[in-house]
Amino acid sequence: MCGIVGYIGTQAATDILIAGLERLEYRGYDSAGVATVEADKINCVKAKGKLFNLREKLEQTENKSQIGIGHTRWATHGKPEEHNAHPHLNADMSLAVVQNGIIENYLELKSELISKGIEFRSETDTEVIPHIISIFLANSSSLLEAVQKAIARLEGAFAIAIVDANNPFELIVARQQAPLILGFGQGEFFCASDITAVLPYTRTILNLENGEIARLTPLGVEIYNFAGERISRFPRTLDWNPVQTEKQGFRHYMLKEIYEQPAVVRTCLDTYINPNWHADENPDYSPVNIGLTPNLTDDLKHIQILACGTSWHAALVGKYLLEQVSGIPTTVDYASEFRYSPKPIIPNTLTIGVTQSGETADTIAALESERARRADLEPKFQAKLLAVTNRAESSIAQICDRIIDTQAGIEIGVAATKTFVAQVMGFYFLSLDLAFRQKTISNSRIGEIIEGLRHIPSQIETILDTQAEYIEELAHDFTAETEDFIFIGRGINFPIALEGALKLKEISYIHAEAYPAGEMKHGPIALLDNKVPVVAVAMPGSVYDKVISNAQEAKARDARLIGVTTAMNATEAAHTFDDMLTVPEVDELISPVLSVIPLQMLSYHIAAIKGLDVDQPRNLAKSVTVE
Ligand code: G6P
Repeated sequence: MCGIVGYIGTQAATDILIAGLERLEYRGYDSAGVATVEADKINCVKAKGKLFNLREKLEQTENKSQIGIGHTRWATHGKPEEHNAHPHLNADMSLAVVQNGIIENYLELKSELISKGIEFRSETDTEVIPHIISIFLANSSSLLEAVQKAIARLEGAFAIAIVDANNPFELIVARQQAPLILGFGQGEFFCASDITAVLPYTRTILNLENGEIARLTPLGVEIYNFAGERISRFPRTLDWNPVQTEKQGFRHYMLKEIYEQPAVVRTCLDTYINPNWHADENPDYSPVNIGLTPNLTDDLKHIQILACGTSWHAALVGKYLLEQVSGIPTTVDYASEFRYSPKPIIPNTLTIGVTQSGETADTIAALESERARRADLEPKFQAKLLAVTNRAESSIAQICDRIIDTQAGIEIGVAATKTFVAQVMGFYFLSLDLAFRQKTISNSRIGEIIEGLRHIPSQIETILDTQAEYIEELAHDFTAETEDFIFIGRGINFPIALEGALKLKEISYIHAEAYPAGEMKHGPIALLDNKVPVVAVAMPGSVYDKVISNAQEAKARDARLIGVTTAMNATEAAHTFDDMLTVPEVDELISPVLSVIPLQMLSYHIAAIKGLDVDQPRNLAKSVTVE
């Protein structure tokens, strides 16, 4: 988490830094700051709270400096106070550093620096960096050399950017296990935690790799490894459209992203479904083009999926599909748990990391540890790594053998919506591909599922068209006194209950829990009374009657019952539910991509009516790049 940005060129740096930080604010937003070099001095301005506080402060001064660094913070070490905000400076305030990551040995370094008489101004881990660089500068021939020496003392995962008043024409950046990209403009160069920050200025990008340092000057960029050897790298040009990152008339990014879902699913279908595949022609090639090579799929006996947050919910839908459609035993683990309690090694295993950002530290570390622990074993035990990610250029893409690019476009709202649906689409494609290869279901069933998938975009449009007003109206009932919600679902829709509860918690701050409907009577039912609404995901199919019975049990305890069900079922379901969120008729196997939509809308409207910061909920960050 935390976002860093840097600029050197011909324009006023502050404007570019602030605009960049605005686009990185999803990474953390409890304080922010910028440092520029002016008349051989560092000018550092910081503010607690959201970025507009910093912007207001900066408006009071005129700053024409053409070099600077900026930071938006998600507090790890030290409270979100101005003195802990980045940039952090050395003792004589001539050198400034911003960091995304954690310096794990900072306490040891800090006491060493304190014993040398250095006084600290913050409680952060980052502040050790400017002091160490400053000490090395005294005996180095260049700022670059001093930074190299300082980095050798740092342990942890970090991306840093440095400006120095005594070297006013260079910006030094370094990356070790935290994202950092460089942007190449005309006579101007950028660095940032994410390409979104530089997209308005350039689409020529280079991903710095772990163990690399770059020196940016007005004349160009030089890249070195940590040992100081010069490296040749070539930037690439992205075809991303900056308009994707605008709100386009929607009140919040989250709402815009909910409405983008039909288009996202269309893109996924166009990208991955093979249009020439027809079940009745008995084709000998896969119905989907996800590019899995035989070394990943041959003899596959087991799949393990690792993910966090919403991606973990998509993984649970994936497990259902991979087991029921492809017939492959599949486990799903939180990446943060798996990395410290890995499962026994099973041969012929495919390991899948699911992460929209491709930068979640726990997911990356879990996949890396999986690769490492299998490295010396015989071939059938070797790690086969697949990523399901929305960022083809991300860190996870670098460490995996293959990726399924979920093609959802940049998602800015911290609460994931369109990327969740796109991840689930990725699992449909994967499970169909494996089912075809392993012949676990007939071609005609594969054809039926694909036909069902093709209807999803228009079916989501129907939900958005017919339910929006009703859901907004309904949301008013839960904005004043409701403190708890329960979500229930079964089978392939249990993960949707989990996702509905998570969305509500994240953005409305209402406590919500989700259970497999059959588990209610083993404890959670004790929570129910007329103040605790219950949302039941009751999609027609194998467990519909069971969910309805479980919902009835909740109703008998006076809970207000909200049902997510299909329009055709509505008359029957009306006897059970007090309120109904209806979706079009759909095969149970495909239903999660529809049933999740009303739940996204319900949590959105509850939070929006409460006047909360929907896109940047408190304490959260979209990209969690620390453990
Ligand atoms: C954070 C975000 C969640 C997200 C999770 C995993 O907690 O707030 O919305 O689901 O990280 O992120 P990833 O990028 O790995 O999918």
